[in-house]
Amino acid sequence: MRTDNADDPERFAQRYSVSANPSQLATELEVLGSDYQANGYTTIAQADRMSAALGLEPGKILVDLGAGCGWPGLYMAASTGCSVLSIDPVGEGSATARDRIVADCLEPPSAAIQADAEAIPLRSRSVDAIVHGDVLC
Ligand SMILES: C[S@@+](CC[C@H](N)C(=O)[O-])C[C@H]1O[C@@H](n2cnc3c(N)ncnc32)[C@H](O)[C@@H]1O
Repeated sequence: MRTDNADDPERFAQRYSVSANPSQLATELEVLGSDYQANGYTTIAQADRMSAALGLEPGKILVDLGAGCGWPGLYMAASTGCSVLSIDPVGEGSATARDRIVADCLEPPSAAIQADAEAIPLRSRSVDAIVHGDVLC
């Protein structure tokens, strides 16, 4: 499923289908400090600062809107113990995020959901914090 609201979904889909390329991952590690197939500019230090500012800890639920392959929300969950709902309308990104959730042993309710930020399939007041990295650009 792709929605009309996603900005150029074909471009993102194409990017996510090749972003596990070793040279791209090496560049990402060098520039951002991450290896999540990032498609934005959030550094690992900035992600750590957001986690601290949001008071993330086990038992809390974070939503990452426009997460692509899961950066930075999956990292914030792995490093703080909170749960994360990684949301993006592009299936190639959500599938990669889902694989990373399994690889990192993040437990439910952590999940990668293919959805549009304008129609998030969550109940009101059901999460503790929301982040978005390079989505409103
Ligand atoms: C520049 S990428 C950033 C991805 C990720 N946050 C990162 O830093 O690697 C922007 C993302 O926003 C998503 N996006 C675009 N329109 C959206 C919408 N209406 N709802 C949710 N996500 C959307 C795109 O599919 C894309 O994956």
